[in-house]
Amino acid sequence: MELYVDTANIEHIRECAKLGFVSGVTTNPSLLALEDPSVDIKKRILEIYETIGGHLSVEVISTDTNGMLREADEILSWFPEATIKIPMIPGGLAAVRQLSARNIPTNVTLVFSTTQAIAAANAGASYVSVFMGRLDDIASSSKQVLDEVCEIWDVQGYDSLIIAASIRHPQHIVDAALAGADIATVPYKVLMQSIAHPLTNLGLEKFLADYDKMQTEKQKFMSL
Ligand code: G3P
Repeated sequence: MELYVDTANIEHIRECAKLGFVSGVTTNPSLLALEDPSVDIKKRILEIYETIGGHLSVEVISTDTNGMLREADEILSWFPEATIKIPMIPGGLAAVRQLSARNIPTNVTLVFSTTQAIAAANAGASYVSVFMGRLDDIASSSKQVLDEVCEIWDVQGYDSLIIAASIRHPQHIVDAALAGADIATVPYKVLMQSIAHPLTNLGLEKFLADYDKMQTEKQKFMSL
């Protein structure tokens, strides 16, 4: 399972690009607004793309098919490798079908049910983003939905890649990987939590302290 970072924060994306285990970025209008509501979106998106050098999903804000297609063309004029993120609504599925016929990668977002995922795959989505945290927030089981989607993908052989999105904590990453998701898109804070462990820090402290002790002993011996 690949890991993407779910953010529009350029500093965090720079950090992730250096870390070596993050291969893409997903954004949405809320994440862009969170950083700086007055941001020049095109400038920020291009900055993100140049920084990560991998997958970048950029979301449209139109709610009608023609508007989404116009926006997709505009985003593609910024950089042709863009994946166009489209909401899971009827007009969105029609846009996905047309973009897919032009071999333009799409990421269907705001997927909360197994049947929505199936419809997105049939429309030709390259990626289907199943939201975990927001399902758990309303006492639905995101694990159950993701397990079902992944099992159906195996049985039916759908080509769309499954993204586990709306990740809130490291256990969501584990659940997504166990279910068989292709990608988890994770907030920066949760990515950093997922690679940290107190025993790693304690172990490193001890290794370094023992090394220093050894050097001190060696110096004492040499000065005899
Ligand atoms: O990329 C969209 C998704 O990951 C949003 O997450 O935390 O706002 O539900 P969240």
